[in-house]
Amino acid sequence: MTLTIKPILPRFGAEVSGVDISKPLDEATRAAIVAAMDRWGVCVYRNTGLDNDSHVEFSRIFGYLERAPLRPGKAPRHGHRELFDAGNLDPSGAILQDEGMLLHKRGDRLWHTDSSFMELRSSYSLLLAHEVPKEGGETWFADTRSAYEDLPQPMKDRIAGLEVIHSLWWSRKLAGVPLTEEEVDERSSARHPLVLRHIGSGRDALYIAAHARDIVGMDRDEGRALIRELLDWATQPQYIFSVKWQPGDLVIWDNLASMHRGGYFDERNERRYMRRTTVREGVPPEQPDDPFAELLSFPLKATA
Ligand SMILES: [Fe+2]
Repeated sequence: MTLTIKPILPRFGAEVSGVDISKPLDEATRAAIVAAMDRWGVCVYRNTGLDNDSHVEFSRIFGYLERAPLRPGKAPRHGHRELFDAGNLDPSGAILQDEGMLLHKRGDRLWHTDSSFMELRSSYSLLLAHEVPKEGGETWFADTRSAYEDLPQPMKDRIAGLEVIHSLWWSRKLAGVPLTEEEVDERSSARHPLVLRHIGSGRDALYIAAHARDIVGMDRDEGRALIRELLDWATQPQYIFSVKWQPGDLVIWDNLASMHRGGYFDERNERRYMRRTTVREGVPPEQPDDPFAELLSFPLKATA
């Protein structure tokens, strides 16, 4: 089977067609799908026909899938721990009205990379649209490899070897959740190099995000100004594009080669419901359980 690949930007993002990813795939097709991700960083598959089972099954070609925490005494939602809910619905399927949860979710509208606040990085995210708003609700993507490559040499020299502290709570504070600096500092965080080598392409990339709180060994204000400067650089028009969703569309993005953010929509009246699988970088399939349970044990309410 030959994939048809239509680039979105010259170096980043592609619409892929010519393959039915809801069905079992032969080895050559699987390799071509992974190779397209290595090259383009974000791949859009329209009208896939994927359901919960085939979404999870297709995702496994990329590696180990992260698992959502089990709720005590309850079976996994949708029958798979590998499926994470995204969007603006509560567990009963109604539109979220809780202001604290809405604020928390608004953090996804800041440029970020999924799970950079975890020690074990996420590589691919595979987001399938189930319900989409009439207007807005698109997802924006930014090319962190080209952004790094285009940096002036003095900036490349300045950031070489730097490490960054990433915190989910920092991005939530940026989004308006009323957390103090002390509360952010005492909660879990992770440390990652600011520039990473993207294994599948051999290209270097910036690894930054709204979760990026501080630069190790640098004055706090100076570090945050540098993070802001790099985020602004990497989200210039030549590095970004948006995807407008229809139900059944799947977008795969490589968190080690891109950032993304959600677009605005009428979140109090319109339904937006997506399910996501997430691949953990370089982890063997026998990884026993998932550290999300511990991380998410912190209260998410705005009043916390
Ligand atoms: Fe995200």
